[in-house]
Amino acid sequence: ADARTIALTVNGTRRHVTVEPRTTLVEALRDTLGLTGTKIGCNQGQCGACTVLMGGTRVNSCLTLAVMAEGTEIVTVEGLADPTGDLHPMQAAFAENDAFQCGYCTPGQILSAIACIEEGHANDAVEIREYMSGNLCRCGAYPNIVAAIEQVRD
Ligand code: FES
Repeated sequence: ADARTIALTVNGTRRHVTVEPRTTLVEALRDTLGLTGTKIGCNQGQCGACTVLMGGTRVNSCLTLAVMAEGTEIVTVEGLADPTGDLHPMQAAFAENDAFQCGYCTPGQILSAIACIEEGHANDAVEIREYMSGNLCRCGAYPNIVAAIEQVRD
């Protein structure tokens, strides 16, 4: 009941998804569009595993209703590498700096890291840590994540 179809752009491609009023963006991405790179950790806005870009701004997709994404441009981790398979510079920097261990938080970390630089919050390590504080890493890769961001910034 009350399902409706919305149009949005995901990783540069126009998509249509049929969602319920309560369907979250991460559910629409993972379950309807099959884009399982975006992870669900806490499902309540506290871990950042579900971070995506919506209209260029990072959002927790577990807290964002799918209907709120109507007409917007969404970027997920699947949209970062170029079509030839070359990694996005931030993906390459995460790999070079060992900025992950188990990798579960990594897609969200990378989207936040990209937003950190684009929004001008990567001026020093303290600022980076503050901006990235909503993206938790149980493995404690924080110093290497900061190093990866600094590498891309420079
Ligand atoms: Fe969305 Fe944790 S799953 S913030």
